[in-house]
Amino acid sequence: MNQSRPPIADSSLALLAKGYTWLPDRRRRTAAPLVRTRLMGQHAVALHGPEAVRFFYDERHVERGTALPGPVLSTLFGHGAVHTLDGQAHRGRKEMFLSLLTGPQRVAELVDSVTAAWDEAVASWSERPVVLFDEASRILTQAVCRWVGIPLADAESTARDMVAMVDGFATPGPRHWRARRARARSEAWLAGLVEEIRADRATAPAGSALEAVVRHLDSDGSLLDPHTAAVELLNVIRPTVAVCWFVSYAGHALRTPGVRERLREDDPAYAVAFAHELRRFYPFAPFLGGRAVTDLEWRGEPIPAGTLILHDLYGQNHDADLWEEPYAFAPQHFVGRPPQRDELVPQGGGDRTTGHRCPGEDVTVALLAALGPRLARLDYDVPEQDLRIPLNRMPTRVRSGFVIHAAPVRVAATAH
Ligand code: HEM
Repeated sequence: MNQSRPPIADSSLALLAKGYTWLPDRRRRTAAPLVRTRLMGQHAVALHGPEAVRFFYDERHVERGTALPGPVLSTLFGHGAVHTLDGQAHRGRKEMFLSLLTGPQRVAELVDSVTAAWDEAVASWSERPVVLFDEASRILTQAVCRWVGIPLADAESTARDMVAMVDGFATPGPRHWRARRARARSEAWLAGLVEEIRADRATAPAGSALEAVVRHLDSDGSLLDPHTAAVELLNVIRPTVAVCWFVSYAGHALRTPGVRERLREDDPAYAVAFAHELRRFYPFAPFLGGRAVTDLEWRGEPIPAGTLILHDLYGQNHDADLWEEPYAFAPQHFVGRPPQRDELVPQGGGDRTTGHRCPGEDVTVALLAALGPRLARLDYDVPEQDLRIPLNRMPTRVRSGFVIHAAPVRVAATAH
């Protein structure tokens, strides 16, 4: 370690003030292959790029168990979540998520549940202006709970809680406390359901995700305790509901000349390219955090054991070395060119079986490829509203939630 290196100032306040642009700005201002900083008093380095993805996702380099701050666990992921596990314990738990969320059959069943709820909801949209973000959150909540096998008393308040947990993880203000209350309420509800099922006072539908989580044995051979089972059920429900962020971004993106017309053409490959471009272009997860397990070196730069290592997802998805015109919304980025594993990283990188990459990526892409064309075909006006997406808010969103005024849905009278 270079002992003469000047002390590094803490950047926690700069991160809060600048949001998504904080790391990419820092990177542009440094000639070094990594950004050195301090966050919450800890020495941190930030990396980006496909090669850095492979370095970051190597378990001999980076562990997750001690890296995630308590406030993020108490809101977004839940204490004891798969996100916090390493090694064998992680593999065993991850296998459960992969068996539930990957494979064409599983994905198609969830997409069918969502599109059925969407088609039903859309029929009433001409009666009043609707906020796409809110409508999508309710539709997704109803559909994912049906698919998981969870009886839902009140889709509206459950949707609000799922959104609150995501919305409040990266801010110290009232949104954060709302997120904590939403998590406490949701965990109590689902832990109670798990206990009822195990005591034979309630049933989980055969073959459902609910049944899989209730019966799952961890790598040490034990059942998940009811709290952890609730945390992991929420790790299926909450991020599926969070697809509402991208649905309202889809409304925003359809204003790009040519995109809406092209999406109406019933071309599944274009719909998938549109879904990937939504995930690349619009800001959602800013960066990932892990901790160096040993003394490391990245392109000649030392990274002492215990250093916080960040991977800049937003920066990589807008890196001009990887993407032509990175700040233009262009599904063409992916037409005839599927994303490379470690290049497009809105949901993490690396191998999803062995690493922490999101197991819900296929579901996310399939949902957006199904809902994008539905939205494009809908006849609606976009009234005057605040369509800004502030990059200093994390997670950000379209300020208005994307309000639309839909024309009555026409029922075809004759076949053609
Ligand atoms: C809204 C779109 C989504 C975004 C932006 C997103 C993003 C992410 C990110 C950035 C990670 C962390 C990757 C890492 O730590 O290396 C992750 C992990 C995870 N995601 Fe997603 N995700 C989304 C949708 C979903 C869906 C639909 C599901 C489930 C139905 C899901 C379930 C999970 C789980 C369980 C993990 C933890 C994986 C692990 O630690 O091994 N996500 N996601």
